[in-house]
Amino acid sequence: DKGNHRHFMHKEIHEQPEVISHTLGNYIDFTNGKAKALELPWDFAKIDRLAISACGTAYLAGLIGKYWFERLARLPVDIDIASEFRYREMPLSKNSAALFVSQSGETADTLASLRYCRKEGVPIGVVVNVRESTMAREADVILPTLAGPEIGVASTKAFTCQLSVMAALAVRAGVARGHISPDEEQKLVKQLAEAPRLASQVVKLEEQIEKVSRDLAHHRDVLYLGRDTNFPLALEGALKLKELSYIHAEGYAAGELKHGPIALIDENMPVVVIAPYDRIFEKTVSNMQEVAARGGKIILITDKKGAEKSTVNTIDTIVLPDVPEIIAPILYALPVQMLAYFTAVFMGTDVDQPRNLAKSVTVE
Ligand code: F6R
Repeated sequence: DKGNHRHFMHKEIHEQPEVISHTLGNYIDFTNGKAKALELPWDFAKIDRLAISACGTAYLAGLIGKYWFERLARLPVDIDIASEFRYREMPLSKNSAALFVSQSGETADTLASLRYCRKEGVPIGVVVNVRESTMAREADVILPTLAGPEIGVASTKAFTCQLSVMAALAVRAGVARGHISPDEEQKLVKQLAEAPRLASQVVKLEEQIEKVSRDLAHHRDVLYLGRDTNFPLALEGALKLKELSYIHAEGYAAGELKHGPIALIDENMPVVVIAPYDRIFEKTVSNMQEVAARGGKIILITDKKGAEKSTVNTIDTIVLPDVPEIIAPILYALPVQMLAYFTAVFMGTDVDQPRNLAKSVTVE
């Protein structure tokens, strides 16, 4: 039931504050300011590598997870697209653990990767939305996303719930590995707890984002740029836009711009830049200058400080509330989803059921 919403995707975008809150509640003890001690088939203090694999949007959640695990827990992460992982025959050490991310729990390549790790004797966790799925049955531990059924083919709420699980898990790993003190844990947990409230504020930007989308819908190609955890979000933005609106889009790490994609920039090229004001903001500003100098049309997604400090002319600036760094990817995912959604609505495509796509890809 779509309720008052025009599409399931719209409904699912709006459900995010609530389902992020449910999901976080499963991993975080808000009252005591602690990441819950989960029963895991591995000991975060003893493993020396975590192999994450998944497909599509779930893969991008894993990619953001890599930044978190490495930064908060100093735990090296190998992140792979499942269709590559399964044939690469990657050597896995005795002290590795494997984590798979999947909304459906049925994606053929992710399942095959899980079975490869099973054969290699590596402990297996799945971040999964459908608890009765094959992956959930075959894993050693289920790390559920509590997003509820996701009907829109393009993943939205499952993605931000995957990110919520990953962030909480990275905090847990950081504590277990001695890189996060009890005080820091309290602080991080408090910041995680702010995600639902901030998400409901971000969803309210939709009128502005709808206007930006109206312009975007007239273009043939769109480039997305971001650094650090905003790089996977740039990839996610491009993935969402192409699958929903059929506009060609590419996501790049902003620092890669001058290594090739800059050749594409002219007056007809919109460039969506995802850049909250953080420690590398200035670096992204210099990439924006490179775009502006060639007449590219910049759509900047940032916060108040970022909007003030960016010295570059943009055609649109979408200003989010100030958010703690750890939850920024969860919140910046929302404008990226909304941009793709409204552009597709203007294009008149079938938003909930884009051509050639299936919700669950059970064949390779
Ligand atoms: C994109 C999208 C897909 C899925 C991918 C994995 O919006 O929804 O890229 O994320 O097919 O599916 P699951 O998560 O079910 O394994």
